[in-house]
Amino acid sequence: MSYPYQIKTKEQYDAAWKKSVDDPQGYWDSVASSFMWRKKCDSVLEWNFKDPDVQWFKGAKLNITENCLDRHLGTLGNKPALIWEPNDPEEHHRVITYRDLHHKVVQFANVLKNNGVKKGDRVCIYMGMVPELAIAILASARIGAIHSVIFGGFSAQSIADRLQDAQAEFVVTCDGAYRGNKEIPLKSVIDDALVQCRFVKKVIVLTRTRTPVSMIKGRDVWWEDEIKKVETMGNPDCPPVEMDAEDPLFILYTSGSTGKPKGVVHTCGGYMVYTTYSFVNVFQYTPGDIHFCTADIGWITGHSYIVYGPLGAGATSLVFEGVPTWPDAGRFWKIIDKYKVNILYTAPTAIRSLMGYGLGPVHGHDLSSLKVLGSVGEPINEEAWHWFDENIGKGKCPIVDTWWQTETGGILISNMAGVTPSKPSYATLPLPGVEPMLVDENGNEITGNNVSGNLCIRRPWPSIIRTTYGDHERCRTNYFATYPDLYFTGDGCFRDEEGNYRITGRVDDVLNVSGHRIGTAEVENAINMHAGVVESAVVGYPHDVKGQAIYAYIVYGNTHGDEDLTRQDIVQTVTRIIGAIAKPDKIQFVSGLPKTRSGKIMRRILRKIAEGELENIGDTSTLLDPGVVDEIKSRRV
Ligand code: WT7
Repeated sequence: MSYPYQIKTKEQYDAAWKKSVDDPQGYWDSVASSFMWRKKCDSVLEWNFKDPDVQWFKGAKLNITENCLDRHLGTLGNKPALIWEPNDPEEHHRVITYRDLHHKVVQFANVLKNNGVKKGDRVCIYMGMVPELAIAILASARIGAIHSVIFGGFSAQSIADRLQDAQAEFVVTCDGAYRGNKEIPLKSVIDDALVQCRFVKKVIVLTRTRTPVSMIKGRDVWWEDEIKKVETMGNPDCPPVEMDAEDPLFILYTSGSTGKPKGVVHTCGGYMVYTTYSFVNVFQYTPGDIHFCTADIGWITGHSYIVYGPLGAGATSLVFEGVPTWPDAGRFWKIIDKYKVNILYTAPTAIRSLMGYGLGPVHGHDLSSLKVLGSVGEPINEEAWHWFDENIGKGKCPIVDTWWQTETGGILISNMAGVTPSKPSYATLPLPGVEPMLVDENGNEITGNNVSGNLCIRRPWPSIIRTTYGDHERCRTNYFATYPDLYFTGDGCFRDEEGNYRITGRVDDVLNVSGHRIGTAEVENAINMHAGVVESAVVGYPHDVKGQAIYAYIVYGNTHGDEDLTRQDIVQTVTRIIGAIAKPDKIQFVSGLPKTRSGKIMRRILRKIAEGELENIGDTSTLLDPGVVDEIKSRRV
C-alpha cells in the first residue's frame, strides 16, 4: 500500500495547504484518485453554508467497505487488520487478517439482510469493545444501512431517545461487556430501552459474557445462530451495495447546548477520503505499523481512527476491550510491549490518570517500538504533555495534538508527526483543506497573531457534518447561523506569533468531562426529573484528572431529611436518565439561583464559585436578589 497523498516534509505541507486553498477541487480530486470508486464523481465540491448544503464527489458511486476490505485482499490479505486485546490479560487475544475480516463482514452483512435490513435502514449498535463491533459497523455499511453506534455507558433512557430519533428498527448488542472488574449487562439495558420502542423489529445478540438474558421470541436472535444459518447457505458472497458519495454512512449522537442530543450525519465519499487521508498524514502511518487508539468505538474517535481511517489505509488497528488501570496501571504499557505498538493515540485524561500512579507501572515494559504519540479530546496541559513525551515517548516520539469534533469527522488542526513542528498544548496548524478563522462576538474576523477569538472554519472539508438527522434546521442554527457563511466550532482559540492554534475550550454550555462531551442543559433536565427538585443549574469546574468536572446547584423543595442521601438519589437519577458519565461530582443545595430580572441564570457567577474564585465574582447589581450569592458562596461544597 502506498499513499501518494502522504506529506513528508514541512515544504510539502506548506505547498499542499496552499494548493488545497487555491484549488480545493483539484487538490481533493487528486487525493480521491487513490481510492476505489465504482463511478468517478461529476463534480468534486458544491457547497453553500447558508442552507447548509455541502456535496463532495457528487455523482460518484462507491462502497466504503470495498475500500476498507476488498481492495486490500490481493496485497494485504494475510496481514492483520485488527488485533484484539481482551479486558482480561489472561484471555487469549485475537488477530484478524484482512481476509478474515472481509469474510466476517460479508457473513454478518448476510445476517443483517436475512433479518430484513435494507439500504437506508438505521441499525443501532450497542456493544462492548469486541471485534464484532467493528464487524457490525462494516456489515451495515456494506449493505448501505446507516449505523448509529451508542457508547456502552449510556443508559436505557438515552438509548430509547436515540432509537426514537433515528427510528432505528434494528439493534445489534451483546449479552454483556467486560470493563475492568465490572460486567455491564448490555442486553438488559437494551430490554429496558425497548419497552419504549415498540417499533424495533429485531435485536441481534452476540455472546460475550454469557450472562443470563431474556430473549423475546420473534424479536431477539443470537448472533452465533444467525451466522450458522448463513454458513449452511454455503459460502455466499455479499457484494457491496453501490452508494452515492452523499448517501448517509452513519449517525452519531452528540451533546449540544440544548437538552436533546443531536444525530450528526456523515456521508460515504467525503468521510472515507478524509479519515484515511488524515490518518496517514497526521500519524505518518507506514505500512506494517501497529496503530493503537485507546478510544471507544462508540465515540467519533473510534469510528474514524480505529475503524474507517486505519482500514482505509490497509493498516493494523489494535482494539482494546479494557480500561487503562485494570488489573493495574501498567495495562497500556504492557499492551505496547506485547504487540510492539508503533502509534499510541490516547486522551489527556488517561495520561493524567496514569501520571497519578507514578513511574512504577511504566518500568519493566519495553516501549521502544513507539514512534508516534497522539492526544485527542480536550486541551492537553503542559505537565501531561511533558510526562507523555519524557516517560512514554522517551523524548524521541513526536506528539500530535489533534483537534477535531464529532461534527468534523476527522482531525482538522494538528501537527503531522515529525513533519510539522509540535508545541506543547498547541494543536498547531490546520491540515490541508482546512481554513481556520478567529472571530469576535459580533462575527468580525480577528486577524494577525497573538490573538484570541471564537474558532470558525471558512470552507468545507470532505468529512464535514452534512445534517443533524431528521432536523436540518437544527444543523443550520447550531453550526452555520451564529456567524453567517462560517462553520462555528463552539471552541475558543488562541493564535500565536507563528500562526499555531491553541484550543482553549468550549465557549458554549457544553462540558468536556474526561474527553466526553456533555451538555449542561442535558444534565439539568435529568436532575430536574428527580422528584423534589425545583430547579437546577450545572456548570463545569477544573479537575486534575477529568479536565472538567460537574458542579450542580440545586433548589430542592423539601430540605429536611438527609442531604447526603438526597444527593445520592439525584446522582442515581442522572445515571438512569443519561448514564454514569454525566454524574455530578458536586451537588450544592441552594435556596435560589442567581438570576437577572428577566429570569436568566447568571452562570458566570456560578462558574466562579464552583472554581473556588470567591473574591472576584464580578458585577452582581443586575441580579434580582444579590443576597443569594453570599448564601451560595458560604455553603460551597
Ligand atoms: C470537542 C469535541 C474529536 C474527538 C473527541 C471529542 C474538544 C477535542 C481537542 C484538542 C483541545 C479538544 C473541543 C471540541 N477537543 N480535541 N486536541 N485540544 N480541545 O469529540 O465529543 O465531538 O468533542 O472536544 O472542545 O470542540 P467531541
